[in-house]
Amino acid sequence: MNAQSADNDALAVPSGARALLTVEHLTMRFGGLLAVDDISFAAGDAEITAIIGPNGAGKTTVFNCLTGFYKPSEGRLSLRHDSESGQQPLFYLERMDDYRIADAARVARTFQNIRLFPTMSVLENLMVAQHHALLRASGFTLLGLFGSRRYRRAEKDAIERARYWLDRVQLTEQANISAGSLPYGAQRRLEIARAMCTEPVLLCLDEPAAGLNPRESAELNQLLLRIKEEQEIGILLIEHDMSVVMEISDHIAVLDYGRKISDGTAEFVRNDPAVIRAYLGEEDEEQEEKGEQGREQERPEQEQSESNRP
Ligand SMILES: Nc1ncnc2c1ncn2[C@@H]1O[C@H](COP(=O)(O)OP(=O)(O)OP(=O)(O)O)[C@@H](O)[C@H]1O
Ligand SMILES: [Mg+2]
Repeated sequence: MNAQSADNDALAVPSGARALLTVEHLTMRFGGLLAVDDISFAAGDAEITAIIGPNGAGKTTVFNCLTGFYKPSEGRLSLRHDSESGQQPLFYLERMDDYRIADAARVARTFQNIRLFPTMSVLENLMVAQHHALLRASGFTLLGLFGSRRYRRAEKDAIERARYWLDRVQLTEQANISAGSLPYGAQRRLEIARAMCTEPVLLCLDEPAAGLNPRESAELNQLLLRIKEEQEIGILLIEHDMSVVMEISDHIAVLDYGRKISDGTAEFVRNDPAVIRAYLGEEDEEQEEKGEQGREQERPEQEQSESNRP
């Protein structure tokens, strides 16, 4: 049995993979609103874990807790790095500020509403993303910035990394144009490249396929699968586009009204009555094989439609 219902064995990864991220009893309150209500799940190392659910289910709030934008009201968020030395350092993200989560725990994210520096060039956006690493190489001194061999080497590495990821997301030719003038799909790819330039062990993507056409969505699938396989990192994916989620996810957790209602493989979740109810309501029964066919363009703010049901 490689899938679990919401209430049992919440912390196992369905494939049996090592848990990279373990979320235990995560709760986030905004005044009287329980945006995230006692959620637990584990995300496997070198796996794609999708977090899906209707609008307002709490998905982005989970990301905001993981990346230090919000301090969770309750819960534990543990990230365990794999390491050849067998040390496997452990980070409790709920205790760390956003800077250390990015820099030490190495969690990177993209945003539901794209957040690039629109007037900077594509290449500059990738260089700015690496400024922490460069500052560290400078020893945080002015002399270090200008004089040290270590800094020059770090700067060269940063440029190499930027070049590499520009190539991977097919933006090399656009390196010198302003990020804001790129088409929407290219801006989404640039956000992923920017996150990858920080060399994360966990990449959190908030609706990367929103606004993409079907061809761009298919290309995104390939990019994410290659990142997973080649970089051997974990990917957490919030996505409404089921042609992306069902095709590339190793594991899916489903949220509704702040609670986890299902957790398992794509096959398990797709057929889970609790998920069907959450997306369609009690009465509507003739859904089953939607996602594969005719997906219209979606925007983040768009309500649930045929194409974004599991
Ligand atoms: N900073 C905040 N203050 C108050 N309420 C918030 C805040 N952030 C989120 N919420 C509320 O928490 C709930 C969950 O929001 P969240 O953005 O996490 O949903 P989501 O699953 O990402 O939805 P969508 O698919 O529409 O992006 C919503 O009711 C939202 O209005
Ligand atoms: Mg959201």
